[in-house]
Amino acid sequence: MMRVMADHVGCGDFPVHRPRRLRRGGALREAVADVRVTASDLIYPMFVGDLNGEEPVASMPGVSRWPVGGAVEMIVELSKRGLTQFMLFGVTDDVKKDSRGTYAADVDAPVNCVLKSVRDAGPDVVMYADLCLCEYTDHGHCGVLSGSGPSASVDNDRTLEVLATLAQVLAASGADVVAPSGMMDGQVAAVRRGLDGGGYRDVAVMSYTVKYASSFYGPFREAGGGGMKSGDRCGYQMDFRRSQEWAVELEADLSQGTDMVMVKPAAAYLDIVRQVRDACSVPVGAYHVSGEYAMLCAAAERGWVDLKGAVLEVTHGMKRAGADLIVTYFAPRLVGWLSCAVSSVD
Ligand code: PBG
Repeated sequence: MMRVMADHVGCGDFPVHRPRRLRRGGALREAVADVRVTASDLIYPMFVGDLNGEEPVASMPGVSRWPVGGAVEMIVELSKRGLTQFMLFGVTDDVKKDSRGTYAADVDAPVNCVLKSVRDAGPDVVMYADLCLCEYTDHGHCGVLSGSGPSASVDNDRTLEVLATLAQVLAASGADVVAPSGMMDGQVAAVRRGLDGGGYRDVAVMSYTVKYASSFYGPFREAGGGGMKSGDRCGYQMDFRRSQEWAVELEADLSQGTDMVMVKPAAAYLDIVRQVRDACSVPVGAYHVSGEYAMLCAAAERGWVDLKGAVLEVTHGMKRAGADLIVTYFAPRLVGWLSCAVSSVD
């Protein structure tokens, strides 16, 4: 760090250094701020299912599960307000779930219907499709199981075959970006192979490259109905006590041809976001997950934090850590908040 030398009498750098000079309000404060969150950074995750109407998610105030028509209307509406990126998750009736998650490949499954309708409606938006089996399997795991009972585990390589096919279905429905989130080894290569084999060479892959086994996914599992009947995801999601494993996953995904990478969760892993950003040249996403969302909402509901201020602070923290894209359930509200001056937050 360079020291500014100057003739002065005093203690240390004082009074030459008066950082408060640039903290005065108004245009000066705006001019020297170098971290910006903009609407084009945001990706809005949405839950869609075969539903009769909107179903609010109790643990995620402000978030609902949507029927196909409602989701499409919402996407078109939000795109007019400047929100242009959406990520779809399927919600499946229990009767349609089976051990292999077969329903995910149904061209009439809700995610595929939303993709087709959005393409027909024509807004200039980026549609991401989450690619995982947990929303479709009766056991709730992110892949196909081998073995049964408590000793059952996810069969990595059989799951890859399923993912390759599903990627084709999502691309055929109109996904711009397919986002494998199951933390299977080799998932990017399998998805890329599936996409290229189906002729979808221009469909991109955003891998959930660095995804930790996290307590912060709780509300999502309620929202998406993706809870597990037994066991946990520690056999495939990462251990947050291993500080260097992100590099192994990043190298693997880049070598398999991922177009973008994601770190998840976000707020408790900003050190990882920064390291991933510095170690690669593809766009980096940070997923501000359901539990992180719910915590802020719960504290704000009690009047303990100011929601707008806290969300702006957390999302700017993600940008400062190096995220290019932020996946957040706050996206629609953020678009409104960002159009007001951030510097007015105290
Ligand atoms: C599915 C998936 C999960 C999330 C995104 N994709 C749940 C999980 O891994 O258990 C969590 C997102 C959130 O909590 O907002 N594999």
